[in-house]
Amino acid sequence: MSAKPFHLGWFTNFAVDEWTRTFTGGGGDPWDGQFYVDMARAMERACFDYIMLEDTLMISEAYGGTTEVYLKHNIMGPKADPSPMAALIGAATTHLGVVATFSTMAYPPFMLARLCATLDNICKGRFGWNIVTTGEDLAAENFGMDKLPPRQQRYDMADEYVELCKQLWASWEPDAVVRDLSTGTYADYTKVKPIHFKGTYYKSRGPLNCVPAIQGRPAFVQAGGSPRGRQFAAMTADSIIAPSMGVAGLKAYRDDVRARAVAGGRDPDEIKILFVVAPILGETEEEAKAKAARIADAPDYCEKALALISAITDIDFQKFDLDKPLPEQLTTNGEQGSLDAFQQWGTGKTLRELCRDQLSRGLDGLVGTPEQVAERMGEVMAEVGGDGFLITRPFTSNISRQYILDICEGLVPALQRRGLARTRYTKSTLRETLREF
Ligand SMILES: Cc1cc2nc3c(=O)[nH]c(=O)nc-3n(C[C@H](O)[C@H](O)[C@H](O)COP(=O)(O)O)c2cc1C
Repeated sequence: MSAKPFHLGWFTNFAVDEWTRTFTGGGGDPWDGQFYVDMARAMERACFDYIMLEDTLMISEAYGGTTEVYLKHNIMGPKADPSPMAALIGAATTHLGVVATFSTMAYPPFMLARLCATLDNICKGRFGWNIVTTGEDLAAENFGMDKLPPRQQRYDMADEYVELCKQLWASWEPDAVVRDLSTGTYADYTKVKPIHFKGTYYKSRGPLNCVPAIQGRPAFVQAGGSPRGRQFAAMTADSIIAPSMGVAGLKAYRDDVRARAVAGGRDPDEIKILFVVAPILGETEEEAKAKAARIADAPDYCEKALALISAITDIDFQKFDLDKPLPEQLTTNGEQGSLDAFQQWGTGKTLRELCRDQLSRGLDGLVGTPEQVAERMGEVMAEVGGDGFLITRPFTSNISRQYILDICEGLVPALQRRGLARTRYTKSTLRETLREF
């Protein structure tokens, strides 16, 4: 088969696994990490590029001004720290990329640089950092601020932050560790130097006090949606993760990011853009449709959907009428791209209809048999031009072993049979795996 393979990632978090539905084996208590270790092993058998561990830093009160709905339905929390989870996954796998989310708001750059270098070594060169600037005021309050800086400033700070981290990662020359038994020298001090970084927002002396990362620096993953965010991603990322927004929207997003990369002097093929999808699979199309309907027709579906959108936009959607269109076009200092994809301004759809549309996460044709969905994914990629998909669980659902099985033992083999997905790994580091094709 002459089809071009595309890249596959999976967007999840170290959070509650499915515990409310049939076939969940008493889920809801994943805190020893073994559920996600099992998931990563299944993904590695299916030759995914990477598992991405999302993270946010608050328990939301955005929907209705209270944590009630969030804690009741475990929405956006509770969740556990992604870095120990990344280490566990790294130790249990040999080829899969391991990406964890760390916010530039939350970590001093020195700590971040050291953490990423440590994780890259534990993961033997397969670690990636999902660079986020945080979009929720409640998270800012957890770190001693009254509210978030505006988006433009957050990205200006992130530019400087990443530059500082790069200098720290380069503060050890790659061959600084000599382990020379004849002289009893572990590291050559002439190859480990301070950086004396002084920027507008950050200052650090350096050098880093850990050995260099196997990849030199971790792979960079980013999800900029706004024009400023896209610019940051285009200049920084090895892989970009983006919400789906119809086939034309995917193509426009990819073309825009690649044009920005070229304008900034980067080879656009160094950036792999993965679009978020949540396929719903069944033995037959009817079975898949029935599964989808069971999720979207659940009595609490809209409440969960709106609580989730509220949390990432800091807008209280409880105040709007479910059976009317939104009264105005909404804006946020949080995730504007996700808000725009959700509100579909100008279509006149009611809020209830907008919630329903979220189930397919912005791309239709992904409810069916593995063969049908694989066919559709191939068509979409052919039209968009590349680079791949980021699987995630269906909207408002928790992740289950059964869903992991549907994807890894159903969908991926169907993609592989079409030549659309990798059947074996040929590289050892995450950055090389991303650049393999
Ligand atoms: C697939 C995907 C995953 C994301 N993961 C996180 C995350 O783990 N933590 C976080 O704070 N923000 C996350 N975001 C938000 C992005 O970092 C970014 O703020 C958002 O896409 C909006 O873009 P903008 O910042 O340019 O407005 C994610 C976004 C997408 C599309």
